[in-house]
Amino acid sequence: MVKVTVCGAAGGIGQPLSLLLKQSNLITHLSLYDIVNTPGVAADLSHINTQSKVTGHVGAAQIEEAIKDSTIVVIPAGVPRKPGMTRDDLFKINAGIVRDIAVAAAKFAPKAYMCIISNPVNSTVPIVAEVFKQFNVYDPRRIFGVTTLDIVRASTFVTELIGGDASTLRVPVIGGHSGVTILPLLSQVKGTEKLSQEQIETVTNRIQFGGDEVVKAKDGAGSATLSMAFAGARFALNILDAVVAKKTGVVECTYVHLDADKQGAESVKSLIGGDIEYFSVPVEFGPHGVEKILPIGDINDYEQKLVSVATTELKGNIVKGSNFITEGA
Ligand code: NAD
Ligand code: LMR
Repeated sequence: MVKVTVCGAAGGIGQPLSLLLKQSNLITHLSLYDIVNTPGVAADLSHINTQSKVTGHVGAAQIEEAIKDSTIVVIPAGVPRKPGMTRDDLFKINAGIVRDIAVAAAKFAPKAYMCIISNPVNSTVPIVAEVFKQFNVYDPRRIFGVTTLDIVRASTFVTELIGGDASTLRVPVIGGHSGVTILPLLSQVKGTEKLSQEQIETVTNRIQFGGDEVVKAKDGAGSATLSMAFAGARFALNILDAVVAKKTGVVECTYVHLDADKQGAESVKSLIGGDIEYFSVPVEFGPHGVEKILPIGDINDYEQKLVSVATTELKGNIVKGSNFITEGA
């Protein structure tokens, strides 16, 4: 049985994400959890003639049956930004939402691969990790911050400049998931050598603040939902490919605790400094989740400067998330 639970399934991301997951034949049970509207979303999706059974669960009283024995729990639950807000401004509301879902997962699906979409990702991932530690079910190889949208955006925006096929162009994006913590490594992308430094800096900034572009365009109606659903489905399906279909060589950048592969993380730490716990890095997935943290590779002086700026902000975000659980603050 391969059960995937989407928490926040009735939302702007949750609905199209669930639709995309319904198309996978690797999933046998698609479980939709939210505090509103999941019976309707589930009834609708259940008419699609793919193999997964779809169930809908509403409210805290039904979270156990929603999450129990999940292989994967994807979390896009919580409030999105409005213009003028930072992702960190969402912490007040989303930290508690993510904590409560993490508690349910730790109790009822302690071996699940946890894919966290809810913002601020830099802090919500440490929240899930600390909850799992409190329940003695923590395994850093199974807890992921979904930063795939940054990679998807990078492929699109860079292709607009250098040409080629955006669907196959891979741009490594490391760091975290907010503004200056998002670090696209354009020097590693073939074709970018023909760009001027000004073009590099402009497109780097566009990738870092791509989320704001959507928030502004939606003008108060939320943030990225459809592109996030695409990215979230790609991420969850990558995990299923490695864990269920036993595919090898599945690689994606994702925000993890660097203990997920201590040996692999050594080369990362030499680049970013030894005292940062979580970072988005290129990961090869295997049957247990993180199989290997892959080397980041060479970065140029401009990117090295971006790393320094990113780590300062990231460290504060990480402490804020961890303390929310360990100190209730
Ligand atoms: P939305 O408001 O459209 O949907 C959120 C859903 O969460 C709603 O259906 C709501 O009922 C549900 N919800 C609220 N509290 C809940 C709880 N306690 N348990 C279960 N469900 C609950 O918002 P959205 O646009 O789908 O965005 C969701 C989150 O994803 C936001 O925090 C947003 O910032 C984040 N996001 C992250 C990325 C990323 O790249 N990681 C990209 C886009 C959006
Ligand atoms: C994004 O990158 O689109 C998301 O993190 C949503 C946001 O608030 O920008």
